[in-house]
Amino acid sequence: MVGTTPVNVPQPAAREFALTARDFDAIRSRVRGAAGIVLGDSKRDLVYGRLGKRLRARGCASFAEYVAFLDGPDGGDEQVELVNALTTNLTGFFREPHHFETLAKTILPALAEAPSRRLRIWSAACSSGEEPYTIAMVLHKAIPDLRGWDARILATDIDTDMIARSRAGLYDVSKAAAIPRDIARGRVIKADADTVEMSPALKDLIRFRPLNLLGPWPFRGMFDVIFCRNVVIYFDKDTQCRLFDRFAEVLPLGGWLFIGHSESLFRVSERFQHLGRTIYRKIR
Ligand SMILES: C[S@@+](CC[C@H](N)C(=O)[O-])C[C@H]1O[C@@H](n2cnc3c(N)ncnc32)[C@H](O)[C@@H]1O
Repeated sequence: MVGTTPVNVPQPAAREFALTARDFDAIRSRVRGAAGIVLGDSKRDLVYGRLGKRLRARGCASFAEYVAFLDGPDGGDEQVELVNALTTNLTGFFREPHHFETLAKTILPALAEAPSRRLRIWSAACSSGEEPYTIAMVLHKAIPDLRGWDARILATDIDTDMIARSRAGLYDVSKAAAIPRDIARGRVIKADADTVEMSPALKDLIRFRPLNLLGPWPFRGMFDVIFCRNVVIYFDKDTQCRLFDRFAEVLPLGGWLFIGHSESLFRVSERFQHLGRTIYRKIR
């Protein structure tokens, strides 16, 4: 029969919510404006998949309703949830391990020669905390008299859920397998059969704060080392240029910068010298 679907032909799964090209554009322009994150055309399914639970939470029947909710008087809190839902938080302990080797073998011994005993490291997009805890473990192992130092790690991320998880310092045992045994000993504590917890000594070294890298930076003072890894890949070139210029302002000459394995400062900033393997030092 014309116009009737035969019963044995599988139909595409009906989508729970309508997502038009206009809704998709409205959502991605909000995320770009708020966080600098550029969502290309191929991210439509990702947006649909990640935001479904937000629509349900707000009782919206379509993305158009959700966009209208964001624009409404109660949309402020939801804007935070929108960004949290669309960030990519992939991370791990000792990710790109050569960076931590450089920290332990080159940077810390050099800084230990300065009489100030002051050390400031910024993990500038810390996700669920594995990166700053890795830095803390390296410091704790490499500097035996750490108590005599004024050492602090600032760990920030735009995603408020990630900051809460970082502060808790609880991780699946399988994630902790990436931590070398000699470093884990006494610093990573078994909480139960499936979970480990970062030790109080590690937690004490870190201040976790929500922070949008594109917004104001409400802290004073310079950093010796900045880790900004695997975040600028989501930003456009202009945003990257402005960000690395700001990083240069909070590093002294010779200050260290680590970026992610697929990132580069080529045609982005001339204020850093590349030492290889995504390790940079500020030169101007
Ligand atoms: C892939 S994770 C990288 C985590 C860690 N640096 C690493 O390399 O393993 C990227 C992180 O960047 C954060 N992010 C994205 N846009 C941001 C922004 N505008 N300000 C601060 N953090 C942002 C995300 O929330 C996410 O946790």
